[in-house]
Amino acid sequence: MSYPDVLSVLLAELGDDIVSLHAQIAERRSADWSGLPGEAPLALLRPRTTADVSRALAICHRFRQPLVVQGGLTGLAGGACTGANDIALSLERMREIEAIDDISATVTVQTGATLEAVQEAATAAGFMFALDLGARGSCTIGGNLATNAGGNRVIKYGMARDQVLGIEVVLADGSVLDGTHKMVKNNAGYDLRHLMIGSEGTLGIITRAVLRLHAQAAGVATAWCGLADYDSVTRLLRRAQQCLPTGVSAFEVMWPSFTGYMFANVPALRSPLDTQHQFYVLMESAGADGPQHQQAFENFLGEMFESGVIENASLAQSQSDAASFWHVRDATAEFPILMPDLIAFDVSFAIADIGRAAQQTDAALRARWPESTVLTYGHLGDGNLHLIVQVPGADAATVDAVESLVYGIVREYRGSVSAEHGIGAKKRNVLGYTRSPAELAAMRAVKAALDPHGILNPGKVLPAA
Ligand code: FAD
Ligand code: LAC
Ligand code: ZN
Repeated sequence: MSYPDVLSVLLAELGDDIVSLHAQIAERRSADWSGLPGEAPLALLRPRTTADVSRALAICHRFRQPLVVQGGLTGLAGGACTGANDIALSLERMREIEAIDDISATVTVQTGATLEAVQEAATAAGFMFALDLGARGSCTIGGNLATNAGGNRVIKYGMARDQVLGIEVVLADGSVLDGTHKMVKNNAGYDLRHLMIGSEGTLGIITRAVLRLHAQAAGVATAWCGLADYDSVTRLLRRAQQCLPTGVSAFEVMWPSFTGYMFANVPALRSPLDTQHQFYVLMESAGADGPQHQQAFENFLGEMFESGVIENASLAQSQSDAASFWHVRDATAEFPILMPDLIAFDVSFAIADIGRAAQQTDAALRARWPESTVLTYGHLGDGNLHLIVQVPGADAATVDAVESLVYGIVREYRGSVSAEHGIGAKKRNVLGYTRSPAELAAMRAVKAALDPHGILNPGKVLPAA
């Protein structure tokens, strides 16, 4: 049998343990969670080492062969979807937790490790790995870094990029940048680490990472609050950051559209409050001292109630209470089953604008499509809004119209078309709503310099020229 030259060379140099051809992988997933279609790639590479990745890329570079790197395929922007002419490279065999340094407070990993495995390793060593998101069991550190993932604790610990001290990256031509340093301070020239983080597989393959660890919180206090209006939500946030000794570690806001839909459609969920409100806030604060921290949190909630900032609240009395509050918020993982045809948004605004922007978006969508379902929630402490829209019987033109409406409002408020999920294949046409022509030109220049043949994840992130 004869294969395209590039496959023959890959097979000859890497062997059939690493290189699987189309017929052997046709059943494998070729798309992520975005809902965008994927096609089975020409071949799948499953390297075991950075040297394997380097050899594979050098060959693809030589043959101008497009290549898509895949982590856990939980991405929501279509970044890991493959086309029929692509080769896929999965890091599923590169998942070693290599070392924990308890003096420098770091963990060094191969980036195919799942987020959950890294969290567990950190916990077992007496630390805490701060990044956390609903897809933790499947998503990989490589995918987290490549998308600069956010999640639930950004307000206290920052995004994925804030958890990284060093990375190892393989560039398109196979050269390896070993930046696996453990220093916090490193102003020696351009910070290539931050260029790679968030580049969604278009500038290089991140193969190893040195991640920052935090002290475990002795006590985590959690409450589910009901509020009357958006002003109260922002007042609660401001006061919590000022008055709680350690501020908040999560501040998740849900509009009643979201909670109403969840309680009606996910039978396992129980509402933490039996009263109805215009806004619900899931607030968490991590403190160093368990009982004292819990008491300070309870006192704070009492003050917020007395001063009329919150209308009602349920304070978690146990870990299982807290988990049941989080189940409501994390039930977003059910969306693909509940609403397979949903149109999802991950946008950001200034916190001061979110209430108005969300209301304007909701009203405009319902006015134009009265049958639509519009669910609003988000990591409000970070200015990050998620919108889930479903229009019964929507065709492609309707989806386009919904997207134009929402992204038009984002542009009006000078927000971002992607707060945390990335651009991938899904949002490249609206990247220019958030980035200026000069910024896009600089991005193209970087791409051309690091990947001159455009083999890494073509058709992703940057708009068609
Ligand atoms: P993939 O989907 O496999 O890939 C994502 C992108 O990264 C692709 O462009 C791919 O080419 C690239 N890539 C993957 N590995 C590498 C690598 N080693 N080197 C270079 N490029 C690479 N995201 C958030 O930010 N916050 C959330 O709260 C959140 N919650 C989620 C909840 C659920 C239920 C789900 C399904 C997803 C959620 N996501 C969230 C989105 C998703 O989990 C993240 O984007 C995650 O970081 C993707 O990791 P992955 O390993 O699945 O990457
Ligand atoms: C969330 C994901 C979708 O926050 O980002 O639920
Ligand atoms: Zn999110």
